[in-house]
Amino acid sequence: MTTTSQATPLCQLADIPDGNAIEVEAFVNGETESLMVYRHGAEARAYFNVCPHAGRRLDYVPGKFLVRSGQIICAAHGATFTADTGDCTAGPCRGDRLRAVSVAVIDGVVRLAGA
Ligand code: FES
Repeated sequence: MTTTSQATPLCQLADIPDGNAIEVEAFVNGETESLMVYRHGAEARAYFNVCPHAGRRLDYVPGKFLVRSGQIICAAHGATFTADTGDCTAGPCRGDRLRAVSVAVIDGVVRLAGA
């Protein structure tokens, strides 16, 4: 049985500048996936690195995301997402949302939750 404390580690929280995001690769649902992990203070959010508009990666070069004032901007066509929720608030897929991956910060380590 997997417990939260044994869940797959993704990165150190300190690896992520506060208010920004990094890319990690992780095994999710049987596939190796690119994830965007966003830090907000002592918390983290993770999303698949896939834009709901046209399925492109969110980063403008591998691992580099446009994050400004709590908003994530897709590099392809400018869709804007609220980083804390993944909700698209502007751009071509307004009203859609990023696919979240459940994570937890435990002792300074961001881990997949329930994996
Ligand atoms: S693929 Fe992200 S805005 Fe078009």
